Amino acid sequence: MNENWNDVKNEAVKWVEEAGKILKESLYEQFEIQTKSNPNDLVTEMDYKVERILKERIERSHPDHKIIGEEEAGRHIQSTDGVMWLIDPIDGTTNFVHQKFNFAISVAVVENGVGKIGIVYNVMQDEWFTAVSGQGAFLNERKLEQTQPVTLQEAVLGLNGRWLAREKRADEQSLHHMVRRSRSVRSYGAAAIELAYVACGRLDCYISFRLSPWDYAAGLVLLKETGHRVSTFQNDDVPLLEPCKIAASRPGLHEEILDYLYDHKGFDY
Ligand code: IPD
Ligand code: CA
Ligand code: CA
Ligand code: CA
Repeated sequence: MNENWNDVKNEAVKWVEEAGKILKESLYEQFEIQTKSNPNDLVTEMDYKVERILKERIERSHPDHKIIGEEEAGRHIQSTDGVMWLIDPIDGTTNFVHQKFNFAISVAVVENGVGKIGIVYNVMQDEWFTAVSGQGAFLNERKLEQTQPVTLQEAVLGLNGRWLAREKRADEQSLHHMVRRSRSVRSYGAAAIELAYVACGRLDCYISFRLSPWDYAAGLVLLKETGHRVSTFQNDDVPLLEPCKIAASRPGLHEEILDYLYDHKGFDY
């Protein structure tokens, strides 16, 4: 079926807005918090609730679309054929629990593996990062500019500081060296927001040694529309059905940082 991606985006924005309101209202209520893979990997009942709301809305409007969500949906999906939604109901759950800001709802729609729609809604800042393939990316009503090359020396890098704490190597190609050669580093605790910040120029790059498709699928659409480079550390396209090591940056800088990241070893995993 031929979709009108603008209509689908407008529908999705409406559902995300509804979910965002529910998240805001829940912030100072009691909600259940559990841990997943380790004591620092949190999930709340609101993560499940938002994922279920979005899944229900999508299924009602588009029964033939596939859905992958971080918490429950689409565990069985093994191919990117057809139209597929990738949902991170709360990106930045730790921020949601502890900071009560800097968390987002991230929704992407891809067709046969090609990104069509990207939405990252930073709930507390009420910032909408949206893109429909081929039509540019927006921050609220403002169209984002095409990115320009930058060098590492002039760049503000986005990365989770924990990666630095885990690195054992100390040679010239270490992350420590990369960071020291940059202008500065920021860490916001929500990958989807950080990718959106690269798209709008607040960050010059974002890297992660392990990120899942629901974290980056929406960011991918935004970044393509602004002319950024997104790849694995081996310079391959990022996958949509499994996690990967990901770098998203301005041209020029991307090639420079891949030199540090390609074949990166020396972690205390
Ligand atoms: C996490 C956040 C965090 C990143 C992790 C993600 P979640 O997502 O984006 O910043 O460092 O890799 O898993 O679990 O809060 O949706
Ligand atoms: Ca999580
Ligand atoms: Ca996430
Ligand atoms: Ca999440």
